[in-house]
Amino acid sequence: MLPVLYLAQAEFGYLGTDAIEYVAKIMGVSTARVYGVVTFYTMLNMKPIGRHHIQVCRTLPCALAGAEKITALIKAKLGIDAGETTSDGKFSLLEVECLASCGTGPMMQVNEDYHENLTEERVTEILQSLK
Ligand code: FES
Repeated sequence: MLPVLYLAQAEFGYLGTDAIEYVAKIMGVSTARVYGVVTFYTMLNMKPIGRHHIQVCRTLPCALAGAEKITALIKAKLGIDAGETTSDGKFSLLEVECLASCGTGPMMQVNEDYHENLTEERVTEILQSLK
């Protein structure tokens, strides 16, 4: 089901009710089962997200390396909280669990790209380059 959901998200932009019902129909399962999968994985979005989807890892190794500081900086620079999108639709911010880059934290994923060993200076540069 995950590859189908990934394709549906790419097609629809996010996985709203219509997309979830469509996936359930073509997979031959209940919509409840699809909802269960969609709500489990943070890479699947049930509402529209910004063009640049920022996901900061908050799990212990990244937290010990300074993830909270990185998240606070991004919130301040973008003027949004975790789970929100900027009013111009450019950026979404989400705090997520381990992204399997634990040895190079703090880290974040922006769309498909990983950014590791983050510092406040590096995050500022990345955000500036995306604007
Ligand atoms: S703890 Fe952050 S990537 Fe694993």
